[in-house]
Amino acid sequence: MSVHSNENLLSVAQIQKRFGRVVVADGITFDVKNGEALGIVGPNGAGKSTLLNLINGNETLDAGEISFRNESLNSLNPAERNHKGIARTFQIPKPFADMTVYENVLVGSTFQGKRLNNKRASEIAIESISRTGLEEYFNTPAGKLRLLDRKRLELARALACQPQVLLLDEIAGGLTDSELPILLDIIRELNSSGVTIIWIEHIVHALVSVVHRLMCIAGGELIAIGKPQEVLANSKVIELYLGSDFEVGGVA
Ligand SMILES: Nc1ncnc2c1ncn2[C@@H]1O[C@H](COP(=O)(O)OP(=O)(O)OP(=O)(O)O)[C@@H](O)[C@H]1O
Ligand SMILES: [Mg+2]
Repeated sequence: MSVHSNENLLSVAQIQKRFGRVVVADGITFDVKNGEALGIVGPNGAGKSTLLNLINGNETLDAGEISFRNESLNSLNPAERNHKGIARTFQIPKPFADMTVYENVLVGSTFQGKRLNNKRASEIAIESISRTGLEEYFNTPAGKLRLLDRKRLELARALACQPQVLLLDEIAGGLTDSELPILLDIIRELNSSGVTIIWIEHIVHALVSVVHRLMCIAGGELIAIGKPQEVLANSKVIELYLGSDFEVGGVA
């Protein structure tokens, strides 16, 4: 794990978002450094997935600003943000089930915004498949993959966009204890190679074994951000999310 510079890659400033009466972001402000891995925790319905949607442009802000490399993203659509280097995975992976792993990833590398020729798009797809350890399933229809490999495919599809920042939404959810370390190693390797990671996860021991900093949000508010062990010891984080009997437990 290394943070490559002190440069802010992404800045989230005083953002506001509500769905009807539900306030999902209420003045959240934080920065993410280039090369950093930031973890996000918080109770169900806290606004975590919505925060990723606001960053990648699937949802628009009511107020505030999100900027990337000191440039506002507010007026950009998801494809334009993807083109700038922002890619995400989804809480519920939705690959094209009848298409092979290679074809699924090729969709990512072909439609990443930059105009790539077929050869280059294919090279990037092959590299993304190799970095996520999916080589043996190259020609397997995505619908036939087990959960771990569907998660790897989510990562490979996002990687095929050659992102500078990768937004992960509960990518480890549902994995067995023996599968989890495989996914963690892939995420660590991506981060070490320079990809900035913002990762929502309820499997806290897995998350804190990878991230440099941890953030807790609840009710659309930022409750704490900082070193993982400090955030996990924060009394409001314990009250609102972890519960008083929480122990980090074995680090994968
Ligand atoms: N498009 C939408 N329209 C209306 N309400 C929404 C929409 N998206 C999310 N919400 C609501 O906003 C709140 C925050 O949802 P969000 O998915 O961001 O939570 P979360 O922190 O990711 O929760 P979980 O841990 O369960 O995934 C919830 O009450 C949810 O029902
Ligand atoms: Mg969510």
